Amino acid sequence: MKHILTLCIALALVSPTQAETIKSENHNDTTISRIAFGACNNPRRNTNGMYQAILGEKPNVFVFLGDNIYGDTEDMNVLQKKYNELGAIKGYQQLCKQSKVIATWDDHDYGINDGGNTYSMRKESEKIFLDFFGEPENTARRKRPGVHTSYTFGPKGKTCQIIVLDTRYFRDLVPRAKYKKGERPKNIVGWYRPVTDTSMTLLGDAQWKWLEQQLQVPADFRIIASSIQMLSYEKGMENWGNVPHEFDRLMGLLKKHKAHRTIGISGDVHFSEISKKTVDGYPFYDFTSSGMTHASTGWSKATNSFRLGKAYAQLNAGIIDLDWANKSATLRTIDKAGKTVLKHKIPFAELQFK
Ligand SMILES: [Fe+2]
Repeated sequence: MKHILTLCIALALVSPTQAETIKSENHNDTTISRIAFGACNNPRRNTNGMYQAILGEKPNVFVFLGDNIYGDTEDMNVLQKKYNELGAIKGYQQLCKQSKVIATWDDHDYGINDGGNTYSMRKESEKIFLDFFGEPENTARRKRPGVHTSYTFGPKGKTCQIIVLDTRYFRDLVPRAKYKKGERPKNIVGWYRPVTDTSMTLLGDAQWKWLEQQLQVPADFRIIASSIQMLSYEKGMENWGNVPHEFDRLMGLLKKHKAHRTIGISGDVHFSEISKKTVDGYPFYDFTSSGMTHASTGWSKATNSFRLGKAYAQLNAGIIDLDWANKSATLRTIDKAGKTVLKHKIPFAELQFK
């Protein structure tokens, strides 16, 4: 009750428009202890994919982190048809019955490879996305551009907030580096280099304001879900490191609001890895899982100086076990058979701003 009161007081302190945007979909009566997530899911390539392994974990929540289908079109009939193909998959249907399914998008389901704010059908694509994932009518998410949203689960002391970002709708396109033939350095598998132009945005102004408000919602554990990787920038693929000032802004906000116990999750790259970077004394983790239907060994070999342990480059999904009694989070990557192939335990005490 005290927790709800705190939130109400926080809401009362902001203007009516801000109060609307600070809203986090509340499930305070439901304590969650297992969150699963996955990305890069092409029903046309592999209808079975990771579903049975994920179902076996019985997660309270499943997060689709993007490239949930491979739309890649400006034809909304084609996009809708491809969502319908995902909706027809038994494993997907079972997952929706068993777990709370939430989602963001990445480039392919948004509609264009490596796309951003210039994609001509972003409004129409957003409506199809929200309809498919069952967003109720008249929510704040329906009313604003972008698919970002947030959810808060569990009572005080066991509150987990999941902030789902939109890294596509507002983003400025980072120019592709022009390597001459044979000149792309070894261990770089993508085409991007960090920009120095600090006017370039990944999240856009409105989403940044919304995010800062979300970071003030009381939470005992917080997950920031980003379709693209947040730490690993050396491989030249799309990631927050291509717009370093945006990453710095995020770390600055976490510090400003003392958003302890916050970790990131990401997808996009077709393999799994756990990365960690200590910024201003705070150890920020980015747990990547990608490749529900197709994975890439080649991309997993690219440089990432923040990686803990090994990468896993077969089909996989990410699992986060929250142990509220012992105050820890365990990150696990599971394979298609449901076996844990990567594991890292984080005591809550480690995720503390000084
Ligand atoms: Fe992607």
